[in-house]
Amino acid sequence: MTKLRQIYKCNICGNVIEVVHPGAPALVCCGQPMELLVGNTVDASKEKHVPVIEAAENGIRVQVGSVEHPMEEKHFIQFIEVLTADKVYRAELAPGLKPEAWFPVKQEDILEVREYCNIHGLWKTNE
Ligand SMILES: [Fe+2]
Repeated sequence: MTKLRQIYKCNICGNVIEVVHPGAPALVCCGQPMELLVGNTVDASKEKHVPVIEAAENGIRVQVGSVEHPMEEKHFIQFIEVLTADKVYRAELAPGLKPEAWFPVKQEDILEVREYCNIHGLWKTNE
């Protein structure tokens, strides 16, 4: 079974999907099983991907990452998500924008913050 909020990718066509209702034991795209993405938490390269959370007016601000990630046509942060017990907030980003977003969430309600880089995949906070 898939699980709520899991993110899968098709390594052939590049489709990225999020489960909003668990069902099939496997997701198939382009004739092969989609890959379940597991968020990385450790930055090893000079590019930083782990989301950084800070308090902001009426919520939080999330930046990717501790050193600002590139937002170029071929390499950029596609989205940032904040997960709470009963909500998923997603900011959709694009090349040329800053790799950050504001969310109307209290810090204590956060279960996980994750982001997706079109080249380096899924990353999450390691709290
Ligand atoms: Fe990246």
